[in-house]
Amino acid sequence: MLMAKEKAVKELEDLPGIGPTTAEKLRAAGIDTLEKVATTAPHDLADLAGINVEKAKEAVQAAQDATTIEYETGSAILDKRNILGRISTGSKDLNELIGGGVETNAITEVYGKFASGKTQLGFQLSVNVQLPKERGGIGGNVLFIDTEGTFRPERIVEMATAAKLNPDEILANIIVVRATTTEKQILTVDRADSLIEEKNIKLVVVDSLMSLFRSEFIGRGALGERQQKLNVHIHKLQSLADRHSLAVYITNQVMDNPGILFGDPTTPIGGNILAHAATTRLYLRKSKEDKRIVRLVDSPNMPDGECVIKITPEGIKD
Ligand SMILES: Nc1ncnc2c1ncn2[C@@H]1O[C@H](COP(=O)(O)OP(=O)(O)OP(=O)(O)O)[C@@H](O)[C@H]1O
Ligand SMILES: [Mg+2]
Repeated sequence: MLMAKEKAVKELEDLPGIGPTTAEKLRAAGIDTLEKVATTAPHDLADLAGINVEKAKEAVQAAQDATTIEYETGSAILDKRNILGRISTGSKDLNELIGGGVETNAITEVYGKFASGKTQLGFQLSVNVQLPKERGGIGGNVLFIDTEGTFRPERIVEMATAAKLNPDEILANIIVVRATTTEKQILTVDRADSLIEEKNIKLVVVDSLMSLFRSEFIGRGALGERQQKLNVHIHKLQSLADRHSLAVYITNQVMDNPGILFGDPTTPIGGNILAHAATTRLYLRKSKEDKRIVRLVDSPNMPDGECVIKITPEGIKD
C-alpha cells in the first residue's frame, strides 16, 4: 500500500489546525518560529491563538516533531553556567537563597505589596552590578525602565556612598527611561540593543512590569490583547538577557486571589504567561520595622525557602 507522503512541516501554517489567520495571531504574539511553538505550553498556545487546547496540543506536538534538537552534554552546560554572572543583593542570606545572587541570562521577578522593598532592591542591584566581581558585581551598567515615577537618584547616592563608591559615577552609569505608556515601555526594550552594547549594560530593571499594562487594558475583553503584548514583551526581555549575558530584574504588583481560602491569598498579577517566563520568582513581604521576609517561590535549581533582609539607610542588608 502506498503511504501518503507527509508534508514537511516548515512554517507555522504547516502545523495541524493552524491556518493563515491563526498563524498571524501567533506571530503577532511573538511566537513566530516552530521552535517557539514547540516550547510553548498548549494552554498558553490555545489562549494566544484562540484555539481549543486539544488542537493546541496537536500543534505543539507536530512542532516538536518538526524541530531539530541540538544536543549538548551536561558538562558543557555546566561550563556555561559557571561563567554566568551573579549580582549581589547586598544580603548574604538572600544571595544564598537564590544560588549566589541575581543571575545573568535570566529574568528575576520580585512581587509584593506596596512598600515591601521591590524598588529598593532594584536600586541596590543598580549599584551592585557596577562593582567588580570580588565585591559582588559584574562591572556593568544599568538600564532602568521606570514606569511608576519612583526612581530616586538621592537613594542611589545614599547607597553608593555607603558602599564607598563615587556616587556621581554610579549615577552616570544608570540610564533611566521614564515610561508612561506600554508603547514606550515596549519600544524601550525593542530598541535597547545598541544602547546595551554602547554602554556596557549588564542589568535591565523594569519597575514595574505590569502597572501600565494593568491600567491600559481594563476589563475582561482587553485581557487577551494584554497577555499577547505582555508575552512578546517578556520574550524580548529574555532575549536581551540571553544575547547580551545580562540580568533582567522586574518588579510586579499583587492582588488577592479570591480562590485561595486558607493561607496567604497574595498572588502576583500577569497570569501564567509571566509565571512561566520568570526564571526566579521572589515574594517580598513586610515584617517588623525595617525587616522584610523574602520567599523563593520558583527557581529552576534551588529549593523553595525563606530568608529575612533589612532595608537600612545604607541599603539592603542581612
Ligand atoms: N533611605 C531609606 N532608609 C531606610 N529605609 C528606606 C529608605 N528609603 C526607603 N526605605 C524603605 O523602603 C520602603 C519602600 O520600599 P519600596 O519603595 O522598595 O517599595 P515597593 O515594594 O517598590 O512598593 P510599591 O509597590 O509601592 O512600588 C519604605 O517604606 C521604607 O521602609
Ligand atoms: Mg516600587
